[in-house]
Amino acid sequence: MEKSNFLAENNHKMDAIYHHILENLYKTRGIDFSGYRNSFVIKQIEKRIADLGMNDPNTYRFFLENTISEYDHLIDTILINVSCFFRDPIVFEIISQDILQNILERNSYLGSKEIRIWSAGCANGEEAYSLAILIAEVLKNEDNKWEPYIFATDISNDALQKAEMGMYSRDKLEHIKLGFLDKYFDSTATGFKISQKIKEMVIFSNDNLVSYETFAPKDSIFGEFDLILCRNVMIYFSLVLQERILTKLYKAIKHKGYLVLGNCESLSSSMKNQLMSVNSKHRIYQK
Ligand SMILES: C[S@@+](CC[C@H](N)C(=O)[O-])C[C@H]1O[C@@H](n2cnc3c(N)ncnc32)[C@H](O)[C@@H]1O
Repeated sequence: MEKSNFLAENNHKMDAIYHHILENLYKTRGIDFSGYRNSFVIKQIEKRIADLGMNDPNTYRFFLENTISEYDHLIDTILINVSCFFRDPIVFEIISQDILQNILERNSYLGSKEIRIWSAGCANGEEAYSLAILIAEVLKNEDNKWEPYIFATDISNDALQKAEMGMYSRDKLEHIKLGFLDKYFDSTATGFKISQKIKEMVIFSNDNLVSYETFAPKDSIFGEFDLILCRNVMIYFSLVLQERILTKLYKAIKHKGYLVLGNCESLSSSMKNQLMSVNSKHRIYQK
């Protein structure tokens, strides 16, 4: 066989193996990665194969099919639940100085006591708890006047379990402002536990952002959010799925509400006509 044909045939076989692995993931765990960027998913599977000390996707496929717990490890590797408190601190500074103030003013004017926030793709809870800390600070002297609700969702049950536990190692807390650690965490032998007051503000649940069956976190009942953060989630999706997620988020934001994306994410061209850019550098938009 000619060299180029041999390479093409081998690449084809490789693609078939990855395709087979993804099909098995869908059948056994119901998570559909077909709309995620191909190169990204393959890179993550290769990472898992390397972490296990294997160097051949076929051997891995055999291992996966005979080791039921491996499906969960592979899903965790693909989903990357990496986050930290106040990731990109400037964004959280803008949320606390400008956005929350505008929301309070507007809701006061409308006679509403609620502040409704959705952290979509919340990983282990760091983003949602960071928002809860900001709210606690902003409402310091008038917290009886307001009813804050932070709905936090993710597709990974493993991440949601960790979020519910609210226990974090020091490296997740490097952007925490002086004083917040003592005020909002309890120090334990194994790390830092989020305080009960902050925990009570956050409602975690499982939600698949690309599913047609849901339009907002189930506990939020009707959506209508003042602020949605969907950061560092869409980067892994194809343009078609990004558009689907943005349409869903757009519908869930209330009039004049805000959407904050990750620093490497942007609006689809159709959404650019629907949402006004408030801070283009930090990907903050308003409906
Ligand atoms: C890199 S983390 C981002 C966490 C946080 N938003 C931040 O910016 O630090 C991406 C999260 O998106 C979640 N995710 C991936 N696909 C999802 C989907 N289809 N629906 C909901 N969450 C998803 C992953 O499980 C992961 O926890």
